[in-house]
Amino acid sequence: MAKRRIGILTSGGDCPGLNAAIRGVAKACFERMGVESAELIGIQNGYYGLINNTARVMKPSDFSGILTRGGTILGSIRQQYKMILNVGEDNFDRVKAMKETYRALKLDCLLTLGGNGTHKTANLLSEHGLNIIGLPKTIDNDIYGTDVSFGFHTAVDTATEVIDRLHSTAESHSRILVVEIMGNKAGWLTLYSGIAGGADIIIIPEIPYNTADVIEALMKRAKEGKAFSIVAVAEGALNTDEAGMKKKERARKREEAGIITATSRLASEIQAETKIDTRVCVPGHMLRGGSPSAYDRLLATKFGVRAAKLIEEEHYGVTVAMVKNIITENPLKDIAGKTKFVKPDNQFVSTAKHLGISFGDK
Ligand code: F6P
Repeated sequence: MAKRRIGILTSGGDCPGLNAAIRGVAKACFERMGVESAELIGIQNGYYGLINNTARVMKPSDFSGILTRGGTILGSIRQQYKMILNVGEDNFDRVKAMKETYRALKLDCLLTLGGNGTHKTANLLSEHGLNIIGLPKTIDNDIYGTDVSFGFHTAVDTATEVIDRLHSTAESHSRILVVEIMGNKAGWLTLYSGIAGGADIIIIPEIPYNTADVIEALMKRAKEGKAFSIVAVAEGALNTDEAGMKKKERARKREEAGIITATSRLASEIQAETKIDTRVCVPGHMLRGGSPSAYDRLLATKFGVRAAKLIEEEHYGVTVAMVKNIITENPLKDIAGKTKFVKPDNQFVSTAKHLGISFGDK
């Protein structure tokens, strides 16, 4: 068998499980095709490295000891899709440059590990004739066509622990603790960790909130004798006034009003209306750090092994997915540019509502 040259890159925000997936791909390629028939070329820093031809041949030993490591051994520099498309003032055609690197490296195929933005660029490269296979990663769990992406469950575990820890201090001081959980467009991480951590209020971008309803839910708890509360707010939360606005208009209005984040605004409103001492906690990038959970190691490994099968079968233009607990793949063109949002009738939303958790929507 002629040697296959397999390019691999990680793009977008990192997450736990990227290294486990890289290892899964490599080990399964060596196992299926033989070490002499598969060569892995690591492209440094995502599409940035593909644009600038920063790559290295990886040895089988490079894939040892990385299963448990957080982050990505390949690095990642964000390259926005819009920027990639734009041949701007510098007259630099980034798509052309990526195609040139692919040819210069004599790649047979390229694996792109990433989230929604990564998949858009992956599809673009596929349309330009490159042999692409995607692997879905993100703590946001918002990749269309897959029930789950690796990184998500580790982040759920971490965010749940944050909420757990806030409980004791909130209780000691009879305070309201407002915790901001990552997720700009989709509220999966806030929803899951909010329920698992026993939050009293969960605010997600897909369900715009009324401040008055949030206050009412908090006051109801206070009247019932519950001296503290936990409010889990997704980074991209919107109130009902903002829900109908375009992104730019919303940003302008917030700037005019001196609002830094939806979380800080909500916390101030809560403090002012309830008169209960209120604090904000922003775990931020901590939610993306650390060693992958056992679930994510398993998922990333399964995705990696599936990708190796696709490489062997020369089945390109797809991204690996998990649908109803079965590992499969979706055509890139069917998922690129789409986002998997939490639907208001999602079972976890109704589960939470049945527990009395408020989403600030009455
Ligand atoms: O997409 C993952 C994510 O962690 C989002 O939840 C968050 O909004 C964003 O990345 C933060 O990006 P950055 O690391 O570039 O600040």
